[in-house]
Amino acid sequence: MDAVHTQSDPADDPAGPNAGFTPRVFSGIQPSGGLTLGNYLGAIRRFVEKQDSGIETLYCMVDLHAITVWQDPAKLRHATRELAAGYLAAGLDPTRSTMFNQSQVPEHTQLAWIFNCVARMGWLNRMTQFKDKAGKNRENASVGLFAYPCLMAADILVYHATEVPVGEDQKQHIELTRDIAIKFNTDFGVDFFPVTEPVIEGVATRVMSLRDGTKKMSKSDPSDMSRINMTDDADTIAKKIRKARTDPEALPSEEAGLEGRAEARNLVAIYAALAGSDVETVLTEVGGRQFSEFKPMLAELAVAELSPISAEMARLMEDPAAIDAILAGGAVRAREIAAPIVKRTYEIVGMVG
Ligand code: AMP
Ligand code: TRP
Repeated sequence: MDAVHTQSDPADDPAGPNAGFTPRVFSGIQPSGGLTLGNYLGAIRRFVEKQDSGIETLYCMVDLHAITVWQDPAKLRHATRELAAGYLAAGLDPTRSTMFNQSQVPEHTQLAWIFNCVARMGWLNRMTQFKDKAGKNRENASVGLFAYPCLMAADILVYHATEVPVGEDQKQHIELTRDIAIKFNTDFGVDFFPVTEPVIEGVATRVMSLRDGTKKMSKSDPSDMSRINMTDDADTIAKKIRKARTDPEALPSEEAGLEGRAEARNLVAIYAALAGSDVETVLTEVGGRQFSEFKPMLAELAVAELSPISAEMARLMEDPAAIDAILAGGAVRAREIAAPIVKRTYEIVGMVG
């Protein structure tokens, strides 16, 4: 339900805080480089699962988020299309999921401004992603990088999305989205925005670097050996896994044996995610083996899963106009949902128009 209803304490509603809202899934990925195995396992593969859940799904290429740090324009264009190709190749179907780029739906930025005025400096100051990305030289970070979480809240709430599948690193941003929704509803005495649930599920919500088990696998890591890219060929994937950092011990038979062994845990978790299994079950099969034996098994699994996807991405990238047409169609559908929500938000806030 998109109408404003009278204020009540949502926590008191026996049907849950979002009882009045149509369930809707939204998520996004930044086109700020190539896709990694972390994006695939932590996000895209789960987007595809949600597509079959019977709930409306919207998936975005968040190009406006990407430019909060410098992006070369030609590379940004390429990365946006490649991300769309990744969505499609992994199994998102534009007739069942709405796929679009953020900049083509101006309602995101319209709502973001309102949220800039709802969120407090203190809330944004606590965001760990800002601290990590801004580094020591905060004075030189873009204003957009600081306000990034308000735009993210707008991405989600402009569709009244109730569920957001993301990796572990986005939990704090979703919590901020909830705080913004609650403060808006309270300030204006309405029950207009849902209190969105982060959906952080599965064994691979935090895939770690292949070179350092304490760091997240990331497209922005300077070392290409730290990550598996969705466009890597079979030999590259095998080489990266062969060279992945490990310890000298054999694999344990139980999960407790992974304590203090971040690199070992990461490889087993990746294996479990790719095999559609869990860490405990994998260890009952591979416990006692050396990494020299386990790594080729993992490489084989990774290649089997990723090769067809990267081949399909390459095929789709031969026809950028077809990708652009899918994104344009997605933007039309997205605006159908977003425009009335922004219109109503402006009325609630007191804009005349
Ligand atoms: P980003 O590449 O930062 O735009 O992230 C897009 C999505 O992928 C978000 O839901 C992230 O949480 C998820 N993600 C990125 N890196 C990883 C990782 N190493 N492990 C699990 N999920 C990840
Ligand atoms: N901040 C997310 C990331 O870096 C990307 C993102 C932007 C997003 N808007 C979103 C994710 C809305 C989920 C929902 O991974």
